[in-house]
Amino acid sequence: MDIRVFDSDCEIGKAAAQIIIDCIKTKEKPVLGLATGASPVPTYKCLIDAYNKGEISFKNVTTFNLDEYCGIPASDKNSYYTFMHENLFNHIDISEDNVNIPSGNPENVEEFCSAYDKKIKDAGGIDVQVLGIGRNGHIGFNEPAEKFTKGTYKVSLTESTIEANMIYFDSPDDVPREAVTMGVESILDAKEIILIAEGAAKAQAVHDMIKGAVSPSCPASILQRHNNVHIFLDREAAALL
Ligand code: PGA
Repeated sequence: MDIRVFDSDCEIGKAAAQIIIDCIKTKEKPVLGLATGASPVPTYKCLIDAYNKGEISFKNVTTFNLDEYCGIPASDKNSYYTFMHENLFNHIDISEDNVNIPSGNPENVEEFCSAYDKKIKDAGGIDVQVLGIGRNGHIGFNEPAEKFTKGTYKVSLTESTIEANMIYFDSPDDVPREAVTMGVESILDAKEIILIAEGAAKAQAVHDMIKGAVSPSCPASILQRHNNVHIFLDREAAALL
């Protein structure tokens, strides 16, 4: 694991964006796995800057997002569809045809999930996957469980995740209780992974991910088994290492 501790979120964003920029510059058809939440926002800002400076184009880039809430439409201000458009896609030259975000409300969940996994495979797999980490060690919305999950599926969110997500919603009752997420195995299939963690609330999860046993009780710990992972932390998130 390439573990680096930075002085600011902005420095983390620059370092993470550089890996993505290198991927976009070197691959003919780059495939990015993208995350929502606060952690990747500085990275997306740096990517938008690089695009505005003419350093990169997203014309040949395909993206797959990790997850989406169930029970709210894609047009909702809190959907991950909206988040990704506001924080990245609306500001770059990516083709909407190349943007893939799980549907949170598919008619047939199983069919949708296997089609999403197949689409990732057909695109050649994910070159660089961006991840945050939950306070409970989740990656994507893969919550602590008895087994590591495989492909995309519908998940019930834990109280810890629902509580962490409350800050974005007008009322606690509005926070979705379920989501569609890529599974742990699909995440591990990515050729290169960047996990970003910031703030003291993540320190225990970061410790367990890096120093703990590989266990589905801390889903991020599986990253110890991947051979090309960058963990980018601020000082607070790295405090227990
Ligand atoms: P955050 O969420 O980036 O908003 O902290 C990360 C996560 O829960 O995976």
